[in-house]
Amino acid sequence: MVVLANRLPFDLEPQPDGTTKARQAPGGLVTALQPILSRREGAWVGWPGTPDTELEATTTDGLTLEPISLTSDEVDQYYEGFSNATLWPLYHDAVAPSEFHRPWWEAYRRVNDRFARRAAEVAAPGATVWIHDYQLQLVPQMLRALRPDVRIGFFLHIPFPPAELFNRLPWRRQIVAGLLGADLIGFQLPGGTRNFVRLAKSLLDVPTSGGRLNYDGRTIKVGAFPISIDSAAQSALAATPEVHDAARKLRADLGNPSKIILGVDRLDYTKGIDVRLRAFRELLAEKDPSVDDAVMVQIATPSRERLESYIRMREGIERQVGSLNGDFGKIGRPAVHYLHQSLPREELAAFYVAADVMTVTPLRDGMNLVAKEYVACRVDGGGTLLLSEFTGAARELRAALQVNPYDTDGVKDGLRAALNMTTVAARRQMRSLRRQVLTHDVDRWAESFLSALEGTRDHVTEARNR
Ligand code: ADP
Ligand code: G6P
Repeated sequence: MVVLANRLPFDLEPQPDGTTKARQAPGGLVTALQPILSRREGAWVGWPGTPDTELEATTTDGLTLEPISLTSDEVDQYYEGFSNATLWPLYHDAVAPSEFHRPWWEAYRRVNDRFARRAAEVAAPGATVWIHDYQLQLVPQMLRALRPDVRIGFFLHIPFPPAELFNRLPWRRQIVAGLLGADLIGFQLPGGTRNFVRLAKSLLDVPTSGGRLNYDGRTIKVGAFPISIDSAAQSALAATPEVHDAARKLRADLGNPSKIILGVDRLDYTKGIDVRLRAFRELLAEKDPSVDDAVMVQIATPSRERLESYIRMREGIERQVGSLNGDFGKIGRPAVHYLHQSLPREELAAFYVAADVMTVTPLRDGMNLVAKEYVACRVDGGGTLLLSEFTGAARELRAALQVNPYDTDGVKDGLRAALNMTTVAARRQMRSLRRQVLTHDVDRWAESFLSALEGTRDHVTEARNR
C-alpha cells in the first residue's frame, strides 16, 4: 500500500552535522494513520515539513518514507495559501474568510502533480494507493492518468462543505473532477457524502445511484467512514503507573483544585478556544465556580504560525488568558494555565487522566480525535466530556454533554453542568462513551475503508484488457 498525505508522520529537519532530526508531525491525520501504517508494510509519500530540503527515502520497520520536496514559494502558495487560506476556512463553514488567488491554484496543481508522479513511481503493479485530505484533491485524477492499474482510495479528514460554500471556488469543477479519479471517496460523515454527490451532479452532470457515481466510463463509490484512534493503545498508556503518578503530580502542582477543566487543541481558529475561555470568564465573574474551586488548563500546539488569521487568533487568545488571570487570578493561583507547546503523548495522557472536565468546543471540526483520546484515557471511568455539536465526534459520542459553541449561555450552562455533575452521572456518561470509542477504533475504520475499496472494480484485469 502507498499512502499519500501532505505531511510525513515526522517532521524531518537536516542538522548542520549531517544527521536528520525527526519530530512527530502535528494533527489528527498523523495520529490516526501512524498506528495503521506501523502494522502494514508500505510507503508514505509526504512533505517532511521544512522548505527547500531534498531528502532521500528511508525505510524503518517495513515503512518507507518518501519525502516530497517543496520550495519556500510552494510552501507560501500551495500549503499556506491554497490549502490553508483558501480551502481550510471554506471547508470549515467559512468561519474565517477564504482568499482566492490564481497563482496559489497553479502551485496547488503543480504540487499535486508532483505527488501523483511520485506515487506512480513507487506503487507496485495493481497496488492500492490511499490519498489523504484537502491538500491533495487533484491527485486521484492525475494518478489515474499515469497508472490506470492501481486502485485509488481518497479520504477527506475535514468536513466537505455544502454547495452554497463550495461553489465560491473558481476551480470547483476541477476539484470535483480531481476527486472523481478515485475508486472510493470517503468522508467523515454522511452529510459530507451528500454534499459531494450533489455537487458532482450539478457541476459535472454525473449520474448517481445509491452511493455510486458514474464518471469517465468508471463507477466511483462514495461513503462515510468516521475516523478514530488507536483506542486500546491510548487506554493502555493511560493505565501505566507512570501516567497515573504524573496525573497525581499535575493535580498537586495545580494546587489540588476541586475541578480541573482541560482544553487540548492545535492552535486553530476552528477549535473555539475563545468560546470556552469566554464561558469560563463569565462563570468566574458570577463566582460559580470561584477561582479557588476550578482551574482551566489550555494546551495549544503551535500551528500554521505564519498565516495572518492564525497570528491574529493567537493574539486574541493570549489577550483573553491574560485578562482572565489579571481579573480573577491570585498569587500562586492563576485562573488559566496556558501552554503554547506540543507535549509528548505520555504527558498529554497525564493531563487527560487528571482533568475532571474536558472541553472540546470547535465551531466546526471533521472529527476531533482529542475528544476520543480523552475518553480512551479514562480507564478509571471518571471525567466529563463537554463537546461541540459541530464536531464529527458529536454524532458518535452521543452521551457527551453537547453544546452549540455559538451560544455562549448554552456553553456556560454546559460547563456549569459538567462541573456539578454527580460522580454517578459522570460514570454513567463515561461508560457509554468508552463503549463507543473502544469498539470503534482506527483499525476498524481502516478495515472498513479498505474493504470497501477492495470491493471496487478489478483494476489489474481491466488495465490488462485495454
Ligand atoms: P486536528 O487534526 O485538527 O489537529 P484532532 O483533534 O483530530 O484535530 O487531532 C489533534 C491531534 O493532535 C490529537 O492526536 C492530539 O493528541 C494532538 N495534539 C493536540 N494538541 C497537542 C499538544 N499540545 N501536544 C501534543 N499533541 C497534541
Ligand atoms: C488537520 C488536517 C491535516 C493536517 C493537520 C495539521 O488534521 O486535516 O491534514 O496535517 O491538521 O496541520 P498542518 O497544516 O500542520 O499539517
